[in-house]
Amino acid sequence: MAEKKARIAVLVSGGGTNLQALIDAQHSGIIKSGEIALVISNKEGAYALERAAKAAIKTAVVLKKSYSDALGFEEAIKALLKENEIDVIVLAGFMSILSESFTSAYPERIINVHPSLIPSFCGAGFYGLRVHEAALAYGVKVTGATVHFVNEIPDGGKIIMQKAVAIEEGDTPEILQRRVMEEAEWIILPESCEKVCASIIK
Ligand code: GAR
Repeated sequence: MAEKKARIAVLVSGGGTNLQALIDAQHSGIIKSGEIALVISNKEGAYALERAAKAAIKTAVVLKKSYSDALGFEEAIKALLKENEIDVIVLAGFMSILSESFTSAYPERIINVHPSLIPSFCGAGFYGLRVHEAALAYGVKVTGATVHFVNEIPDGGKIIMQKAVAIEEGDTPEILQRRVMEEAEWIILPESCEKVCASIIK
């Protein structure tokens, strides 16, 4: 009998390099306790959707503007998660903050990757390049990435893994973003995902 695997949904909004890292980790066996069963984007035409399609992963697009309020948008996502029997939800560059009614429905089942060492440069308003702009403006010499469980506090849930990355002379937000992805995010997101899936199927 095939081994049981946790079913993973990845929520995306953009380029999807973290989604790609998860797909690659599944192929290489770093993720062995879970399988990516669904990719949901809240943006039409997100390149992440193409990455999913290339890997033959089912996709769905859920747009906020199709619903009268945030609750309707989140209920539509929840319905997809239920229909697809999802166990673990990975936020991989998903640029929408989920409400408490959503996060409390999946305690310690939603994980997020954030491009700084939490508690620095995190919380509402800190996303994407803005995080790296803030780190450079402050003048810190070390930054990194964090994978954490998602609860009702933006970037406030229990930390699963962190990895530090050095800031170098002459860094721009774009250069730093790329280094943090390469040296931290694309490594600790798949590893954390495996850790959470393994603990669920045990
Ligand atoms: C990543 O750097 C991710 O950590 C960040 O957005 C980027 C998405 O890139 N997420 C946040 O800032 C969430 N607060 P990707 O679409 O190529 O994975």
